[in-house]
Amino acid sequence: MLPEQLIERCKERIKPYACEGFVYGKGPRHPILMFVGEAPGETEIENGIPFSGRAGKEFNHFLDHLGVTREDIFITSAVRSRPYKWGQPRGKEKRKYNRTPNQKEIAAHAPILDAEIAYAEPKVIVPMGRIAYWRLLGENPRMEEVTGSFITSPIRELDDWDKNTYRITADTYTLFPIYHPAAILYRRRLETAMYEHLDRLKAYLAIEKKDKSP
Ligand code: URA
Repeated sequence: MLPEQLIERCKERIKPYACEGFVYGKGPRHPILMFVGEAPGETEIENGIPFSGRAGKEFNHFLDHLGVTREDIFITSAVRSRPYKWGQPRGKEKRKYNRTPNQKEIAAHAPILDAEIAYAEPKVIVPMGRIAYWRLLGENPRMEEVTGSFITSPIRELDDWDKNTYRITADTYTLFPIYHPAAILYRRRLETAMYEHLDRLKAYLAIEKKDKSP
């Protein structure tokens, strides 16, 4: 799907940072939804399947609620490798922990997401959590203020591969930001709002389906 050369360049770009593995985004062209996460975790880099760990279970509930399957949608994230940090809880072995990707790591893999969006041309982009939101829209609002509503806006794409600066796309996109599934795991009180947001998205999908039927 994406040129292997582009992937290789991006793998080189992330080498200076504490990131490991590489998980490809997955999905068809012209999906109704493209979900954009943050970065894969330990499980994902082992099996190569996006959202297959703990957050993935929650993500699967989202898809069930929407009545879509993984085949219908595109799944990707801002960063395609696992950012890690070493840690050693008292009495336990030293091991790697997931961490949030930083701006340099996000820029290192930005051309991949740009190319995936250009290739897939999703009807709606669903940024999950603040990293995906910042990557695409360049802002860092409180997620409760922006989740669950449609936004029509240009997005950011990497402009200068050396300076890591972004430009704003000429095209306008439809986005529907939601909480990251991991946020629901850690803050169960977000669940009610989350499923209200998914209901809104589901209503939109139903209208789209109706419009398409003969
Ligand atoms: N979080 C992500 O953003 N992607 C995954 O694949 C797993 C967790």
